[in-house]
Amino acid sequence: MAARSTHSKILILDFGSQYTQVIARRIRECQVYSEIVRFDTSAAEIAALKPNGLILSGGPASVYDKGAPQIDPQIFSLGIPVLGICYGLMLMAHHLSGQVVFTGRREYGAGMLHIKNGSELFDGLGNQLDVWNSHGDEVTALPKGFRVVGTTEGCNFAAVEDRQRKLYGLQFHPEVAHTPRGREILQNFLYHICQCAMDWTMGSFIEEACARVRKQVGDQKVVLGLSGGVDSSVTAALLHKAIGDQLTCIFVNNGLLRAREEEIVQRVFGENFHVRLKYVDASDRFLTLLKGVTDPETKRKLIGNEFIKVFQRATEELLEEDRRNGERKLATATPSGGGHGGYKFLAQGTLYPDVIESVSIEGNPAQVIKSHHNVGGLPDKMHFELVEPVRQLFKDEVRQAGLQLGLPKEIVYRQPFPGPGLAVRILGEVTPERLAILREADTIVQSEMEAADWYYKVWQSFAVLLPVQSVGVMGDQRTYENTVVLRIVESQDGMTADWVRLPFELLARISARISNEVKGVNRVCFDISSKPPSTIEWE
Ligand code: XMP
Repeated sequence: MAARSTHSKILILDFGSQYTQVIARRIRECQVYSEIVRFDTSAAEIAALKPNGLILSGGPASVYDKGAPQIDPQIFSLGIPVLGICYGLMLMAHHLSGQVVFTGRREYGAGMLHIKNGSELFDGLGNQLDVWNSHGDEVTALPKGFRVVGTTEGCNFAAVEDRQRKLYGLQFHPEVAHTPRGREILQNFLYHICQCAMDWTMGSFIEEACARVRKQVGDQKVVLGLSGGVDSSVTAALLHKAIGDQLTCIFVNNGLLRAREEEIVQRVFGENFHVRLKYVDASDRFLTLLKGVTDPETKRKLIGNEFIKVFQRATEELLEEDRRNGERKLATATPSGGGHGGYKFLAQGTLYPDVIESVSIEGNPAQVIKSHHNVGGLPDKMHFELVEPVRQLFKDEVRQAGLQLGLPKEIVYRQPFPGPGLAVRILGEVTPERLAILREADTIVQSEMEAADWYYKVWQSFAVLLPVQSVGVMGDQRTYENTVVLRIVESQDGMTADWVRLPFELLARISARISNEVKGVNRVCFDISSKPPSTIEWE
């Protein structure tokens, strides 16, 4: 979904770098809209998208590799400014008849860039800069029209340009934090070379997204599965702003939620936002299904399938309620092209990283990083048309949008919570008694993390209940009770993670409170596994 063509826009041709999304985010942080497209997008397609500039990402390949990703060379003749980063620079040099050699060694790590010849790219940046390198090939002779504008110790062509044709190349990575003034280099490219305006703001995004939604759904009704997580919450708030009561949110209590979760969601969305909210308490159904089940995958499948059934039923009930309430006009509007009764559209909080077509290049770490949790399932089975108003946004942008839409911080910055809920944090059988123990322990973890100002600094912090009992002593009594594990991790995206080195005092407080206050627990352990090889959740 492209932004309005009146926007400034940068296209990033993805050659499989692990940093491609970082480039896109950096540019958006400069308030310029950016989109990632495949490396083999043709010059004609690119011209049709009317970007202000192009960035060629880095990538793991060597230009000499068999099957190395190639670019349509016509792109260099479109008159659109191009910035090649690392592999992007090699390709540019290679295609424009410069010379690139494969050095056989990888230059990796920090370096010092010496700036010369006054390039616009380095306006205001002085004579030298700390930069971050990660490359194998190296340019050894420049194409005609190019000149050197920066060198490093190991490389005579670390920054080059053909000012006439507006082609620029950097051997190093301006997008990473290890190039501290990289943002300014990108800003020079965006504002001075590409003439981009700073028109990508959350305010303008929200207005445009609302207009798009109104155009898409007309006077039809939309249903949204609200989980209380950030993505579905922001989607709900945005749609509510756009179409008011045409939106109904369904919140399913599967009996596997954290303490007070249903209360929070009903308070925020029902009472504050006045969103039409259908609360479905299906706890009994889920817990009955889970009786005797101990296998993790079976648990997940049962929960996933049951959710679909419950959701489907809830939609039918909604329709019935609409009829009863005499909303005949809307309720009897027969949807064209499928849908579920009068609800033609299903809204989802799909984000940009879920929709970027990942480039498959050997050795590309980005390949492996693909979410396996984005719960699909619903749409295909139910023939809804999808409404995905935040599919252009990165996670940090979704949070900004949420704040702007008036959602409270406790929703916007909340930690991720898995769809199957506490069921994957109770090893072995899920029973009401064990759920009660885990909820209580989990509440203590959250409140102590918040009180110590750690909650928002970590990716996730939660308790896990093991089917393991051990001997303890309480007063003069011998106990034989359950074990709770603390899982507290930091992560960028959930794909890799490390355990957080929490202060011992905080760990001690959490441990003492759990064993003193939660009946049925006499031992607390701290999980010190990273991902990989472990996962964040225990099941
Ligand atoms: P793992 O356990 O695979 O989890 O390391 C990575 C991240 O994904 C979350 N997670 C889920 N999210 N539905 C979700 O929406 C799920 O079924 C699910 N399972 C795990 C997990 O909490 C962590 O943030």
